[in-house]
Amino acid sequence: MQVVTTIEEVRAARRQWANVGFVPTMGFLHAGHLSLVQQAKAENGVAIVSIFVNPTQFGPNEDFASYPRDTQRDLDLLSEAGCDLVWMPSIETMYPAGFSSYVEVEGVTAPLEGARRPGHFRGVATVVTKLFNVVQPTKAYFGQKDAQQTVVIRQFVRDLALPVQVVIAPTVREADGLALSSRNSYLTPEQRAAAPVLYRALSAAQTAYIEGQADAEAVRQLMLATLNQEPLAQVDYVSIADPQSLQELTTIDQRGALVSLAVRIGKTRLIDNLILS
Ligand code: PAJ
Repeated sequence: MQVVTTIEEVRAARRQWANVGFVPTMGFLHAGHLSLVQQAKAENGVAIVSIFVNPTQFGPNEDFASYPRDTQRDLDLLSEAGCDLVWMPSIETMYPAGFSSYVEVEGVTAPLEGARRPGHFRGVATVVTKLFNVVQPTKAYFGQKDAQQTVVIRQFVRDLALPVQVVIAPTVREADGLALSSRNSYLTPEQRAAAPVLYRALSAAQTAYIEGQADAEAVRQLMLATLNQEPLAQVDYVSIADPQSLQELTTIDQRGALVSLAVRIGKTRLIDNLILS
């Protein structure tokens, strides 16, 4: 496994390969990230992973400075997973002095995470576009865990005709349903024990839908009631939205729904989602 930092090194390595599967990450890797790497390797023969904690996607009061980092552990895990090349650009490489070009996606960035984290998706769209330009992957892999991020990425890849196929992989969970996340490392043991309430709320929504409940507001109320049973959980939002437009639904019909939520447990903000179809 090759480990590089500069754009020139990535471009030189890239030229040797026909097909490349690419997994952009912010590091502190877990089995969710590694499942994407394994799929990228299996489907393309070559897997490239980037590790870059992207400052432009964090708000001023968010956790950029404290975001967990462990490069040696990440490299060991990637090597084991069959990764061929790891790109760890510096901040100066991604945002050279005088940097002033951004990718702004309208519409699907407005609700949900976009409403609570102003500028977040501008940072994500900008960095992912630049990563794509350098790596020039055949296919790029993203987790369903960040549902709105997948919709935003599909939107600008289509709008800007970026020559890459976007692949979305299922959310990897702990045995108790908690979605794996680098931010789970912030949780105290007591908070960790409370965190599966997110998945319980999603599961309650799914069960109600399967049993015939099509009234979106009734499902939202059921999720809130589930979340309110956990004293450590502070609800940011629960949403039943159209999976493409991300607009809130009144009725869940045959087009299905994206059920998503954001919950604070202590200082840690957790998100999760399920697709009803
Ligand atoms: P990061 O949070 O490190 O996640 C990297 C990729 O792993 C994303 O596509 C994310 O959806 C996926 N992922 C995270 N947890 C997962 C889980 N439990 N199961 C499956 N996939 C999971 O998302 C980002 O980084 C950044 O926004 C990035 C796209 C790298 C741009 O900076």
